[in-house]
Amino acid sequence: MQLITIDKDKCKKDGICIAECPFNILKENAGGVPEMIPGGDATCMRCGHCLAVCPSGALTLEGAAPAACEPVKKEWSMDAGAMEQLLKTRRSVRVYRDKPVSHEIAGRLMDMLRWAPTAKNLQPVHWTLVDDRTKIRTMAGMTIDWLRDSNMFPEMVSAWENDGEDMVLRGAPLLAIAHAHKDALNPQADCTIAMTTLELAASAMGIGGCWAGFFMGAAQQYGPLEAYLDLPEGHHVYAALMLGYPKFSYQRIPAREGEKVRWL
Ligand SMILES: Cc1cc2nc3c(=O)[nH]c(=O)nc-3n(C[C@H](O)[C@H](O)[C@H](O)COP(=O)(O)O)c2cc1C
Repeated sequence: MQLITIDKDKCKKDGICIAECPFNILKENAGGVPEMIPGGDATCMRCGHCLAVCPSGALTLEGAAPAACEPVKKEWSMDAGAMEQLLKTRRSVRVYRDKPVSHEIAGRLMDMLRWAPTAKNLQPVHWTLVDDRTKIRTMAGMTIDWLRDSNMFPEMVSAWENDGEDMVLRGAPLLAIAHAHKDALNPQADCTIAMTTLELAASAMGIGGCWAGFFMGAAQQYGPLEAYLDLPEGHHVYAALMLGYPKFSYQRIPAREGEKVRWL
């Protein structure tokens, strides 16, 4: 199959796809119609910008015709105020209602995350989702074992031992773990961006998230937890997020430090 095909009847020869291509693999032919440069196939990162940007729907990428693509819903566009509110009101939620996050909603979130940016559009992020409370508590306990062995955060260890309190995964109904092959181009950044996107998307759907830093530390360093996770060969955990419906709602936005910005 040809990577890029142009419908010459629809193409307005406006050069927009050529200007948009990040790797300059499109150029005008003698008739002013875009065509791929020799070897462009190997350089193309399949980002789909040429297909997405074409106003006349003249460009097909890898058999995906413009008419078959999901349209941009203008009525769903978020204005800057709504975005600012989402960013400022997202909180790390640690107290959850006793209500599971359905597989349907988790699936919808996972679907959205496929559009988070990744280095060179290589899309290396994999997800492990856990909503079995016993498994979540088992992994919290393993993290406590790691903290105890490493002489870290003794107050968390004693809260677990004396009161059974889970300060690691907070009894969250759902745990999302982002992992990728360690030899991927930029697995840490890609997983972090995907997880941040998940936290924001979940927040917009009324689901609270909280980064699970202690769990991440154990999942990266503690053999028994690594074995329990049983990730694909060569994969590392780069991000983890507790998720659940918040028990409480936030009435105001807490203060933060001023911006640390300089212009150079
Ligand atoms: C990388 C990272 C790891 C974190 N790990 C934990 C954690 O293990 N447990 C926890 O309760 N909160 C954790 N947090 C949440 C922070 O404590 C929280 O973002 C911060 O206190 C600010 O609160 P806010 O997110 O509600 O604005 C983590 C946040 C980040 C970014």
